[in-house]
Amino acid sequence: MLLLAVLTGGAGARATPQGVQVIPKPVTVTAGRGWFSASSAVVSVASATPETRRIAADVAGLLGGRVGPGGNVMLALGGPARLGDEGYDLAVTSRAITLAARKPTGLFHGVQTLRQLLPATGARRIPALTIRDYPRFAWRGAMLDVARHFFPVRDVKRFIDLIALYKLNRLHLHLSDDQGWRIAIRSWPRLATHGGSTEVGGGRGGYYTQRQYASIVAYARSLYVEVVPEIDMPGHVHAALSSYPKLACDGKPSPLYTGIDVGFSSLCVDKQLTYAFVDDVVEELAALTPGPWFHIGGDEAAATKPRDYLRFIGRIQRIVEQHGKHVIGWEEIGRARLGPDTLVQHWNLDPAKTALSRRAAEQGARVIMSPAAKTYLDMKYDSSTTLGLRWAGYTSVRDAYVWDPVRQVPGVGARDVIGVEAPLWSETTRSLADVEYLAFPRLIGIAEVGWSPARGRSWAEYRLRLAVQGPRLAALGVNFYRSPEVPWR
Ligand code: ACM
Repeated sequence: MLLLAVLTGGAGARATPQGVQVIPKPVTVTAGRGWFSASSAVVSVASATPETRRIAADVAGLLGGRVGPGGNVMLALGGPARLGDEGYDLAVTSRAITLAARKPTGLFHGVQTLRQLLPATGARRIPALTIRDYPRFAWRGAMLDVARHFFPVRDVKRFIDLIALYKLNRLHLHLSDDQGWRIAIRSWPRLATHGGSTEVGGGRGGYYTQRQYASIVAYARSLYVEVVPEIDMPGHVHAALSSYPKLACDGKPSPLYTGIDVGFSSLCVDKQLTYAFVDDVVEELAALTPGPWFHIGGDEAAATKPRDYLRFIGRIQRIVEQHGKHVIGWEEIGRARLGPDTLVQHWNLDPAKTALSRRAAEQGARVIMSPAAKTYLDMKYDSSTTLGLRWAGYTSVRDAYVWDPVRQVPGVGARDVIGVEAPLWSETTRSLADVEYLAFPRLIGIAEVGWSPARGRSWAEYRLRLAVQGPRLAALGVNFYRSPEVPWR
């Protein structure tokens, strides 16, 4: 049984609640007495490996101190099983800081907490306290649609920087859609050179070379974020069909598409070439992706006959498994017979489709919760938002925060839900500044939904903690939306 310590604000030299306004909210925080002065920091590692030394160097940089033996900031690998792979114990006194975790991932998350314990500006000191912290859900993701508009490598890395600050651990890249194919495939080069040559609205588009994609994956890993690649099939494939007309059922050439309709394209389920194509794409992309998952899309396949869809998903699952990856698909794949270790991603508002997530869970699939009305970062905040869409309604900062992943779909509960993910579809976002405006601050709330215990979360309290992120986001140059729901500092 965990006790949530009550913070005794203001009095004497005790840490005030303002001093521990961390997002995501830690599992337990116990206030101490006094402050640790960052200027005196010497960081030591009890369990020195190249990885823990790198984290120690980050901590020294953060505190403005140095790495050295016999320090007053100690990093150690160890701690109770309860911390799991991602949790950490942090103890700050006026004399020393101890950060312990069972895995480097946990140390990294502890460092993100330390970062938020330092003031955004002013005296570099940290309030004395004890924190025990670990995530509620294993899967805490963001999705970037690089197909509708293309975002270059530096934008993606910056986005990874920002999500890692809030302990998100998955970046799902939606790499292909009707409007663009964004990853070079050596055996099918026109996918990128032709299929990647435009985007929504007719801009120049772009694609990642395999080396660039690998650099994104490696960069993400260095921040404990796993990249999940998605090639959307059998629908959302117009850019591929335009690149290789022989993949289309009618074999006819077609121009690229720069509008925002969905549901009009399909791979040709009866052609053998289709499966050779998918096998080549999955093989190359799986080899570039160390993480265990491959997202096959499967959504909105309105141009594929229902019977064909079932056959197609069955075959594609086997191809993905042959290349050593676990299948992820949007909830529509719940119609098909699913293999073991499949994840489905719930998104739809339509109750008939919601039932597909339940059907998937009944087959043993774990469910990633991305309910559109809560987590789709491309929905407008309100009627005054110029960017974004509104088919799932307006999504305020509060809406994105006030929900529980295990109470979204009847019959899909705590045993079934592996976590949360916030997709950002890019029909209207033409720059990283646009992406930041829609993602921040809503994504911060979703990060807390994914990490923090449900008990103890409340909008009234969260909005005050979120307000403190304002100067931090500003210092990072994030183009965030200063929602009137939040009393920004
Ligand atoms: C989706 O929004 N089509 C998954």
